[in-house]
Amino acid sequence: MKIVLARDYQHLSRLGASLVTRAIKQKPNLVLGLATGETPLGLYQELVKLYRQGNLDFSRVVTFNLDEYYGLPPDDPHSYHYYMETNFFKHVNLRRENVHLPPGRPENVVAACAAYEAAIAAAGGIDLQILGIGQNGHIGFNEPGAALNATTHLVDLAPETILANARFFSCVEEVPRRAISMGIGTIMKARRILLLASGEDKALAVAQALEGPVTTRVPASLLQLHPCVTVILDRAAAGQLNGKTNREEEPVCC
Ligand code: F6R
Repeated sequence: MKIVLARDYQHLSRLGASLVTRAIKQKPNLVLGLATGETPLGLYQELVKLYRQGNLDFSRVVTFNLDEYYGLPPDDPHSYHYYMETNFFKHVNLRRENVHLPPGRPENVVAACAAYEAAIAAAGGIDLQILGIGQNGHIGFNEPGAALNATTHLVDLAPETILANARFFSCVEEVPRRAISMGIGTIMKARRILLLASGEDKALAVAQALEGPVTTRVPASLLQLHPCVTVILDRAAAGQLNGKTNREEEPVCC
């Protein structure tokens, strides 16, 4: 695991974008796993900037998002379909047929989850998966106690996740209680992982994930078992690390 310390959120976003850019330049048909939430917004802005400057071409890139709220249609402003469209997809030259998100309102959940896994496999597997981390250590919407080998499935959001995500809705009651998420098994199969964390409210989860025991009680701690993870942290998110972990200045990846 490579841990990179960024000066601040903007620096973190730039470092993340440069890692993604290098991966796309090395493999123009990269299969890129995407996250939503507040953390990767700066990364998406940087990628859009690089695309507009003519430094990035997404025409052959294939994307798979981690998760979607269960029950929300794609045009709901709170859905992750809508988030991706407004924050990233419409600004770059990704081809629509290359963009994938779990459906929010599938007729048959089990079949839709199996189809999502099959689509990832048909694309050749995920080359680079971008992750954020929940305050409770979740990755995707794999909450504490999630099964290690789970693939894409319907999950119940933990009460603390519902509370944390209420900031995106007008009230906590509006936050969906369930989501369709890639499982930990899906995430761990990605060839490379880029985990981003920013802010003091992530510091405990980051310390537990990177320096604590590997346990399903902190789903992100399982990343310690993955052979190629780069973690980019701003100072606040790194605030509770014990200092023994090696840190690097630049996000090289395996
Ligand atoms: C989002 C996702 C979640 C978030 C996490 C952190 O697709 O899967 O795991 O990465 O909840 O969210 P933010 O970045 O909003 O703090």
